[in-house]
Amino acid sequence: MIKTLIIYFSIHHQNTEKIAKVIAEVLNADLKRVDQTKPKEIDNYDLIGFGSGIYFGNYHRALIDFVKNLPEVKNKNCFIFSTSGRPESIFFNLFTKNFKKILEKKGFKIIGQFNCPGFDTYGLLKFIGGINKGRPNEKDMELAKKFAYNLKEQIIIDKRKI
Ligand SMILES: Cc1cc2nc3c(=O)[nH]c(=O)nc-3n(C[C@H](O)[C@H](O)[C@H](O)COP(=O)(O)O)c2cc1C
Repeated sequence: MIKTLIIYFSIHHQNTEKIAKVIAEVLNADLKRVDQTKPKEIDNYDLIGFGSGIYFGNYHRALIDFVKNLPEVKNKNCFIFSTSGRPESIFFNLFTKNFKKILEKKGFKIIGQFNCPGFDTYGLLKFIGGINKGRPNEKDMELAKKFAYNLKEQIIIDKRKI
């Protein structure tokens, strides 16, 4: 059995927490907030999921700092997921690219990534009632579920190769 831990931070509207819960259910994973997780805990798991909302073009600082403070790992499988007000673009908001670089530098092998819109009322947006109201919605959850099933399949295929 693959042991999976999902480490997340979701503080704006608990958008990412909804996605984290769906993925955790499919993967039968343990789910922990990053501020309640000790670096040593990841040793007990084969697969780690990292997720947060996107803040100022990046995954949440708490999650980034957590990864930066980890000791080096050896090819440990991980996946990343986020919710955001706007989709990632090649010109700005390079959140996936930035976070992947940090994880790879630590020695993680990234086997999947997921993003969907999240309700966003930051700053001036609150005066217009926010954007992405109701997101993540049922359809987003369904996509998150599919993402998790694909991860599961991929791990089984990878194991057969060994
Ligand atoms: C302080 C702050 C900064 C944000 N910066 C961005 C950003 O740079 N790009 C973006 O697409 N969304 C941005 N958002 C929107 C959040 O990424 C979005 O609402 C996300 O779903 C929040 O996730 P959470 O509820 O799990 O914390 C920002 C929200 C806040 C509160």
